[in-house]
Amino acid sequence: MSVSHRQLASRTALMVAAYRGAASARPDAICHDPHAAALAGEEGREIAARFSSTFPAMELWVALRTAFLDAQVERWLSQGSVQVVILGAGFDTRAARLAREGVRFFEVDHPATQADKRQRLARISDYPATAAHYAPCDFERDELVECLRQSGFSTDQPAVVLWEGVVPYLTEVAVRKTLHTVAHELHPRSVIAFDYLMKTMVESQRLSESDARTRAQVEELGEPLRFGTNHPLPLLHEEGFGRVRTISFDEIALDFGAGYDRARQFRFQHVALASREAAVIV
Ligand SMILES: C[S@@+](CC[C@H](N)C(=O)[O-])C[C@H]1O[C@@H](n2cnc3c(N)ncnc32)[C@H](O)[C@@H]1O
Repeated sequence: MSVSHRQLASRTALMVAAYRGAASARPDAICHDPHAAALAGEEGREIAARFSSTFPAMELWVALRTAFLDAQVERWLSQGSVQVVILGAGFDTRAARLAREGVRFFEVDHPATQADKRQRLARISDYPATAAHYAPCDFERDELVECLRQSGFSTDQPAVVLWEGVVPYLTEVAVRKTLHTVAHELHPRSVIAFDYLMKTMVESQRLSESDARTRAQVEELGEPLRFGTNHPLPLLHEEGFGRVRTISFDEIALDFGAGYDRARQFRFQHVALASREAAVIV
């Protein structure tokens, strides 16, 4: 059953929080999330430990993804954005970690995961309870802009939109609909950043044994991979974006001082950055 039909918190979100917690505890940490381990709890750590036996570079991948997207948020906030929208937020803590005077954070997620997160946050004494505005929303069924408006979001101000670790779990219809909304219904100087998997990883019947095991293990968590693309520019352009950049995780690893290692097998993962107005540099 897909996550959109479950009443439980997303297990991939717990797993990712566990990896972020472990990555943050390293002496040479690439990402810094002091709350992730507490949010993930034992359940998250157990899922992550099982997953690592199939894809050992997962912790590094999560650390790079989080650090890269944190840097994008910091960059765009420095350029004057005052709203940050985190789509499929899971156990994201940016609202606390990247808080700035005058900037509002909106966390959009499937209602079941969001409710579970809020219970977990209430048990963390040093977490600022009012850091985020919560917008429950199912990308497969609901109107994103309505969910955002109901939580106080303004379409008259530019927003930084993150979609971290979510796109592969959605149908193409939901991916397109969400992108279309960001391009056409948010302020035109808004920007979006999201990671995606290549089509081969999501659809191919001829994967290597370890890639096939990784894909099967995600499916066993109840959140099968559904959407992959080798080249997101046509889709982004069709949905209304005038500027698009993509970057691979091998490139991100070099940028963050993690070097290159063929054995990591980061060949299927990328990040896309896009804005509606070609004049907005992403
Ligand atoms: C792998 S987790 C990533 C969580 C978080 N962004 C992170 O990187 O830590 C996937 C997230 O996508 C959300 N998600 C999946 N399908 C969704 C849907 N149809 N509507 C809303 N959220 C969805 C899940 O609830 C979960 O929080």
